Order: sequence, then C-alpha cells, then structure tokens
Amino acid sequence: MRIDRPHDQERPLAQTAAHERLARYRAVRRATEALIRSLTPEDMGAQSMPDASPTKWHLAHTTWFFETFMLTPGLPGYRVFDPRFGYLFNSYYEAEGPRQPRPARGLITRPSIADVLAYRAHVDAAMERLLTAAGEGPLELLDLGLAHEEQHQELILMDILHLFAQSPLSPAFAPPRPPLASVPTPPLAYVEFAGGLVQMGHDSGPGAPFAFDNEGPRHRVWLEPFRLADRLVTNGEWLRFMADGGYERPEFWLSDGWAMARAEGWRAPFYWRESPDGWRVMGLTGLRPLDPAQPVSHVSYYEADAYAAWAGARLPTEAEWEHAASSVPIEGNFAGSGRLCAQPAPAGEGLRQMFGDLWEWTRSAYLPYPGFRPAAGAVGEYNGKFMSGQFVLRGGCCATPAGHVRRTYRNFFYPQQRWMFSGVRLAMDGAGEGDAPSEFEADVKAGLARPRKSIPPKHFYDAEGSRLFEAITELPEYYPTRTEVALLRRSADEIARLIPDGAALVEFGSGASTKTRILLDAAPQVAVYAPIDISASALDAAAASIRADYPGLRVAPLRDDFTSALRLPAEAEGAPVVGFFPGSTIGNFTRDEARAFLEAAHRLLGPGAAFIVGIDLVKDEASLVAAYDDAQGVTAAFNRNLLTRINRELGGDFDLSAFEHRAVWNARESRIEMHLVSARPQSVRVAGETYRFDAGETIHTENSHKFTVDGFAALAGQAGWRLEQAWQSGEPAFALVLLRG
Ligand SMILES: C[S@@+](CC[C@H](N)C(=O)[O-])C[C@H]1O[C@@H](n2cnc3c(N)ncnc32)[C@H](O)[C@@H]1O
Repeated sequence: MRIDRPHDQERPLAQTAAHERLARYRAVRRATEALIRSLTPEDMGAQSMPDASPTKWHLAHTTWFFETFMLTPGLPGYRVFDPRFGYLFNSYYEAEGPRQPRPARGLITRPSIADVLAYRAHVDAAMERLLTAAGEGPLELLDLGLAHEEQHQELILMDILHLFAQSPLSPAFAPPRPPLASVPTPPLAYVEFAGGLVQMGHDSGPGAPFAFDNEGPRHRVWLEPFRLADRLVTNGEWLRFMADGGYERPEFWLSDGWAMARAEGWRAPFYWRESPDGWRVMGLTGLRPLDPAQPVSHVSYYEADAYAAWAGARLPTEAEWEHAASSVPIEGNFAGSGRLCAQPAPAGEGLRQMFGDLWEWTRSAYLPYPGFRPAAGAVGEYNGKFMSGQFVLRGGCCATPAGHVRRTYRNFFYPQQRWMFSGVRLAMDGAGEGDAPSEFEADVKAGLARPRKSIPPKHFYDAEGSRLFEAITELPEYYPTRTEVALLRRSADEIARLIPDGAALVEFGSGASTKTRILLDAAPQVAVYAPIDISASALDAAAASIRADYPGLRVAPLRDDFTSALRLPAEAEGAPVVGFFPGSTIGNFTRDEARAFLEAAHRLLGPGAAFIVGIDLVKDEASLVAAYDDAQGVTAAFNRNLLTRINRELGGDFDLSAFEHRAVWNARESRIEMHLVSARPQSVRVAGETYRFDAGETIHTENSHKFTVDGFAALAGQAGWRLEQAWQSGEPAFALVLLRG
C-alpha cells in the first residue's frame, strides 16, 4: 500500500504501520504456542496417520515458512538457524527442493521440542528486525505467512484430536466448558433464495484486504432458485439416518462413496464410539456422551452426500453458499470461544451457524475460478496445484481462529477425508420468491391441520415405502396380488386378443411393473410401454428391468402424478392406446375421486382406448382386516414409514413408538381404512408447525374401497367408459374389467 503524505508525517505513519504488523505477527505466533500448553513432548512428536502431522512439525514448518520466504530473501545478513531444517520442514514446495516424506514426519525425533522452540525464537527475533526496518517489498508475504500459520493452528487441533482418538485413554486436549443449557433442536427450516446473476469470489482491487489467491478473481455466476437449510444437520438427525439403514442402503450413496464405506466399514461418523450406554463422541474435550442437539461432525463428503440423498435434499454449491452468506455477519463459534466443539443451533429465525462450528461441505469441486492465475514463484504452489479431485468446504469451524475466514474463503478436502471439523448443511432446488412448498409438505401440513387428520396415500411411496409394498404383496394374508396375478395369467390370452398391433400400453401406478410382464408376454404386439408412477426409484428400477428383458419394446417411463398427468410420452403418440391400472389402486380413491380419475384417464388415453382395471371385490370382514394388518407387521411398518419420511424430509419429530397401526372395515363406505393411532396425548412438530394429538386420535392414511362389478361399471359409466368385458376370480374374489372409451 502506498501512503501519499507530506514528508514530515511519514515517519510517525511508518512507525504506526511497523507497530501494527509487529503486533499482528506476535499475536499469531503466541496463539500457536498457546496451543501446546496442555501437550507433553511425547504428544507433540507422534504422527497418527499420513495425513496428520506431529505438533512439533507444525511449530517448525510455520517457522520455516517465514525463514524461507521472508527472512532469507528480505533481511540482509540473516543467518539460517540450521540449514538441515529445510529438508525436514518443507511441506510440499517442489521449488524449495526435496523434503522428508509426509508419512514419515513422526520419525523426526530430533530436533527436540526445545530445539524447535529455539528455532521459533531465532526466527521471531529476525522477523522483529525485518518488520521494524523493512519497506513494503519484503513484507508482501507477511499476510500470507500469518494466514498460513493460522491454518496450521487449526491443523494442530485436528491432528491432536486424531492422535488422542487413537489412545485407549481418550485424553482431553482441553477441559470441557460448562455445558450449554440443553436446548431443544429448532426444527429445520429452509431459507429461500431467488437466484439470478450474482457475483462471487474475492475482489482484489486496490486497497483490498488479504485473501488467498484461490478466492479470486471475483466473477459472475448464474444461480437457479434454491433453498438453504437454516442450520446444520444434528447428531439426532444423523441417528435417524443410521436407524433407517443409511450406511447399509446403496441407493443413497455415490458409487465411490459406497465402495469406500464398504472397504472402511463405515457405520457412523468418524469419532463416534459405541458403548453399552449408547453412542459417545470423541472430541477435543475427551470422550463424551452424544448430544443429539449438536451438529454432526467429522463426516466425509460421501457421507454428507448420502445423508442429503436420504433426506430428499442435496448439498449446496459453493456459489449458493457464498451468495446466502453475503447477508450474514462473520460471527460464530470459532476457536477463541474455547469450546473447541460445535454447538447446538441457537433458537431463532434465518440462517444460523454459517460461520464457525463446522466447515460445511459443498457439492462444488475445488477448481480455479475463471481467470485464476497462481502467484509467481514458490508461493504459487500454495493453493493452485491442489485443484484436482477435492471438494470445497465453507464457513470455518470451532477450531478456526476467529478473524481467519472470509465469506469467499475456500477450504478443500478429498471426499473420503473425515478428520477435519466437517458438517452438513442441506439445500434444495427450486423456491425463490413466491415458490410453493413441496407437494408433500403442503399435503402433510394441510392433512394434519384438519379436524380429522389424513395424509394422501401416494406419499407412502418413497424408496422404502415402495420396497415395503413389494414385501406386503408376498404376505400370506395379502390375497389381492396373488389373486390378481393368477387371474391375469388365466385371462392373459383373451385380454391379449383385444390389444391391437403396435399398441402403447400405459400403466398407472406401475410400481415394480411385475404384473405388466404377464400382459407383455401374452401380447408381443405391444410396441410401447409407458409406465406412470410418482416414485422415481420404483419407476427407474422397473423401466431398466423391463428394457433389459424386452429388447424389442420401447419403454417410455413418465414420472408423474397419475391423477393429473396431462400428456402421454411422445413415444405413445399415434399408437392405439391400452390403459392398465391393476392392483385395485383405484380403490384408494373416494367415489368422487375415482370418478374424477376415470374422467382424466379417459381424456389422457383418448377415444376408443381400452382400459384394463383391477378391482378388489367385497368379501368377509375377517379376510379384509387380516390382509391390511398382517401378523408379521409389514403393513404396520409400511404405514409408520410415512412418519419416518415426514421426520426425514420435513424435519418432523414423530415418535414412531407412540403411533399404532390400525386397519378397520367401514361397511357404510365399503372400504378398509388404514390409520395411525396416537397412543397418548402428544404434540408433534412438522416443518415448523405444531400439531396436537389426543390419545386415540388418528391420521387416516389410506382407503381401500371394495367393489362389485356392476357397481364399478356404473361408476365408470359416469366417466364415459363402457364395460366391455370382465374376468372374475374365485374366493377371495377379485376382478379384471376391460373398459372401452
Ligand atoms: C399399490 S402400488 C401398485 C403397483 C402395481 N401397479 C401393482 O399392482 O402391483 C401403487 C403404485 O402406485 C404409485 N402411485 C400411488 N399414487 C400415485 C399417484 N397419485 N400418481 C402416480 N403414482 C402413484 C405408487 O408409487 C406405487 O408404485
């Protein structure tokens, strides 16, 4: 920085500047040395893994940095403390020559810690001379050297924690602070951002404060509307992920992450330890009982990404994070608080925990920004050469020195690494001004606010719901699937004769597309198969397996709500259309809804189309109730999974053990009803709202209407369909009807 002042004022100003940089230098160096107060020489020499370094090495390396890049070139007559230290304490600067291999830093038993402290004192004395005497030139790297040393302060804490976590004694680096009042976790909410054209990155114009080279240049990015979670994911939420098989279910994991999780036997975050009294977590204050309100910490990118997939969300991009952070003050739980572990989110509104607590994984690869050029010389190796294969984390953590991070600050780690203080903040697509909540959220909120609580059955079918439904179809009590399949097999040839050449078979609520195969086998003249389902996981799996087994068939899946789908896939255009709606799923509608659905299907399939519908017929109450309340409890699990889904995707806190599954026959409406019954008076939070339940109060989750063939024909008639043919099974009675549009 040039200071344009009359000559007589230069000296005091220069002295002020020298005083200020000396003070900064001393403060940072002292802060590093303060970290070793509780450590023994043995603690400071050990290396617990190749990625971590001994404290002694950090103390020496930061000193070597000042010696190599500032004193040797900038302080006339400077005497290098020990020429052999260049080899020992160079980290990765190729331009500075060969060095001790990183995994072997723990073998550096000499110099002793006392020698390293003497090295620090020697360099500090020389730096005092340089900082007092020097003009601007040699000082260019002071900010970099201090920021570098602050990074190593955090590394010392990360590496000591890793070392102590290997010890059977689980030593504490620091005494725990008095526990914060136990606060209930505020429900997770999302803050909406409209997106658009925004600026990101550090602006390095004249007078700009220091930033690392990788934070710039400032540039424009386009953001689609997005939503960012208002707090970090907690240990309690992570427990739910684990209880739902999060570490065992490959559908949530990236392929590389799944392979790594298998190979390493991951089943919980890095520092969680199972004990007879439940989970404990190793931290800088020792091994302590898991606090469900604390943010989950020390998870890899792969785990963070899997959690987000499980939660129906995703990780934010770094541009989204930075844009959201632009209005948040850089305050939070940094190392200066002395707590040295992430704290529960404070109550309140809006974005919390953006700075401090934990580094937040983004889904952005660590890449150069447009126009990025590494600095010339050895310090150009500082950041740029690591821009491959890593992901960016934002916001700083409880081990980061206060004042070290900026909104533009980019930390980076490999996706499998877990020893840093890393946490998870979720994001979602969409939103922005005036954007509606998801249909799931809207339906659940509206349904729970009704005097008689209900949730539409289509929301049963997340991946686990679809899996449980398939398990239900195998149960001895659940006759509909078996009966319908047998009936389809028996009638397939007759039905096939009614299917024209080159037909498009459009299936509503196709699920696993199991019954479809019976029709496809009997009717090879079908040219196009268009399954429609709301469940992406079921649809993708079914489409892939049908494609594999019917190579001549064009498969055109449509992920949509079949009650509101307006257009058939393009592949079906011009072909004679045959609708297929098996499983008596039509029984899930009320009479009015069934009529509306049949009218909509009539419009969608077009005039002259055939529509094959499976309907379950009225029968004795005992068989009906048993089919929806099986002895193994699979239907109960299917019903309760809806609450698991609400907890996961809408930040709910349903206690699953406080809701019972019940199936009842409602003779007046001719339907089986499924309910979740509240076992006691209770309040439940969902998406920021509270809902009261009396003991015995229910959430009505599904109707399954039972028909007679004549009654159904009359209903279909009101929607413009004519019953052309019906096939009926023996007891338990089920029917397939062919309607003509
Ligand atoms: C009971 S399963 C029936 C599966 C299959 N058709 C059978 O008979 O075996 C119901 C299927 O319909 C889907 N579904 C339910 N409601 C839906 C809706 N409104 N729109 C689209 N698909 C829906 C579910 O995802 C599920 O795969």
